[in-house]
Amino acid sequence: MAEHRPPVVLAPGISHADLAPDLFAHGPIAQVVLPGGVKLWAITHHDALKEALNTQPDDFVRNAAYWRALNDGEIDPAHPIVAMFNGVDSMLQTDDPDHKRVRQLVQKAFTRRGIQKLQPRVAAVVAELLDEVETAGSERVVDLKEEFAVPLPIRVISELLGIPAEDQARAHDLTTRTLSGLHEGAVDELCAFIDATIEYKRGHPDEGLISQMIAVRDSDDARLSPKELRDNVLLFYTAGYETTMGVITSGVQALLEHPGQMELIRTGQVEWAQAIEEILRWQSSAALIPMMFTAREVEVGGIPLPKGEPLLLAYMAANRDPQVFERANDFDITREPAPHLAFGHGVHRCLGEPLARLELEIALPAVFERLRDMHLWGQRPGPAPSLMMNHPASLRVVLARHVGLGASMATA
Ligand code: HEM
Repeated sequence: MAEHRPPVVLAPGISHADLAPDLFAHGPIAQVVLPGGVKLWAITHHDALKEALNTQPDDFVRNAAYWRALNDGEIDPAHPIVAMFNGVDSMLQTDDPDHKRVRQLVQKAFTRRGIQKLQPRVAAVVAELLDEVETAGSERVVDLKEEFAVPLPIRVISELLGIPAEDQARAHDLTTRTLSGLHEGAVDELCAFIDATIEYKRGHPDEGLISQMIAVRDSDDARLSPKELRDNVLLFYTAGYETTMGVITSGVQALLEHPGQMELIRTGQVEWAQAIEEILRWQSSAALIPMMFTAREVEVGGIPLPKGEPLLLAYMAANRDPQVFERANDFDITREPAPHLAFGHGVHRCLGEPLARLELEIALPAVFERLRDMHLWGQRPGPAPSLMMNHPASLRVVLARHVGLGASMATA
């Protein structure tokens, strides 16, 4: 068992940027306590995290059936973080060979070439949303998070799945509450919403990914169980929305707060692609991801753990590991492309990376091109309340050409 250090307490208002160095200082693994007293380990150092992700499923598994304390009744299965993955059959919570089978079934929808076909549609949604932002910005302060960074990935992933426009606000609300890890029952509501959507698609098939998955599921060899179908639709929604929204919001904020770095992009001294890598590293939106379990007695970063221990993947702490990144807590778009882990590593590395990159590569340059004279407005926002996801609670900006409206401007 690892030597005893005081655990890191994860409270609803945590700042992941402040938490990352604290977790790192605890060594390659840190003991953490969730609200409700649930104890876990977090893998915090870059090398230790990468090594652990490389040795699934021999040393580490995603299947919560391995969680000793849960099996022994020491943990409430209704705890929001536990309910989020316990008994869930998405590819993220399964191990090979099931993981490989399911990932292969949907992989073709996410190839770089396939995703490039979405380029015109993503560009059109970006342009449409920025039109609305410009119009609103002539009269009031705009929250770029709510009015741009949220609706963009929601629309893109919804259209990819085939979720109609009128259901997108509800899907957004349920996904955010589920991912915060703070709302009991949220995941059940989200499942009920997805079940109803699947049921509808059975009678009204379309080109979307849900209908394609139903077709696979209903084919003779039925390689996708009904539960796998539901749980993977849920994964696409939760994995595909808040992550991307977080990077867009944090990225715009970072560049507005570091005008010298933005100038390097504007003057062509640094490419957008390089700046996006640094945003992904510095403000990892998937900050602290549940969850893996030790499949047997195993060492993590040289520290022995028994079988059945739960582990959080501390991607943000690892992406600010000073042994890998010089001046790791500084935002520096001129740094050499660095081997960050923002999209994970190993067999569960992000399936949606090509789609996420497409959205970031279109959205971030477009925001700065269209809203050239924007400024941050008001007090710096605190972090959004989430135990796992990292992004600011808001991103209020004023378009400078309207700054003369000054204090009379209605706030967003
Ligand atoms: C900037 C945006 C994104 C970031 C930072 C991100 C990050 C990640 C990370 C860190 C993981 C690995 C989690 C783990 O090890 O437990 C992951 C997995 C995954 N992501 Fe993303 N993601 C993003 C966007 C997307 C999008 C747009 C989709 C589209 C649906 C998506 C779908 C997935 C899926 C399906 C997995 C599970 C893969 C597997 O288990 O084999 N992600 N993502």
